[in-house]
Amino acid sequence: MSTDTKKKPIQLGAIAPDFVAETTKGKIHFHEWIGNSWCILFSHPKDFTPVCTTELGTVAKLSAEFSKREVKLIALSVGSIASHNEWIPDINRTQGASVNFPIIADESHSIAELYHMIHPQVSDTATVRSVFIIDPKKTIRLILTYPASTGRNFQEILRVVDSLQLTDHHKVATPADWKKGEECAILPSIIDPAEIKKLFPQGFRQVTPYLRLTPDPSSTHKAAK
Ligand code: BEZ
Repeated sequence: MSTDTKKKPIQLGAIAPDFVAETTKGKIHFHEWIGNSWCILFSHPKDFTPVCTTELGTVAKLSAEFSKREVKLIALSVGSIASHNEWIPDINRTQGASVNFPIIADESHSIAELYHMIHPQVSDTATVRSVFIIDPKKTIRLILTYPASTGRNFQEILRVVDSLQLTDHHKVATPADWKKGEECAILPSIIDPAEIKKLFPQGFRQVTPYLRLTPDPSSTHKAAK
């Protein structure tokens, strides 16, 4: 077995590996920097490339949406601080954006390796497009890996944050393509009619015994978990 396959994969529910990094906003201690916020750590293959430029611009333009949800953003590639700093004005100018989040300069690949962001069968040096959603307890809540050829949909990342923040506080799960404010599925483990009435005062509609849909409980009802 190669060294790569022996490395323990990062899984949902694990504590995000901590690290110290040089970034465009100075040196950071990752866990300390996250503090009590949520965090999105995302990697891109290379500075001064077309898709990466659109991605970082898109994230910058969504930064108010991430802030509203108490999410801190941090990007990573193996480029140097000088390269990142030279690239940022291009992103801002071409994408009508203002990149204000830190970009990690992982020249030694140490963080990329810690987070399995280099897939040697694709490239020995460039990071793939990884996304990690990390909660305030530093737990990994989502892992996504995209190829270099495909820019990510950051509205989808926001949608997952909405789902995680809702389902952390209410006994529901969110259906396919769900958006904040839409109907949610009552967890199958909730079967006591009195509990259902208490948790979901807006009622529910039963499609099948295991698919019971209720209005988004965050709009009217306090946290129940
Ligand atoms: C891009 O961001 O456009 C890109 C980066 C690496 C490989 C292919 C495309």
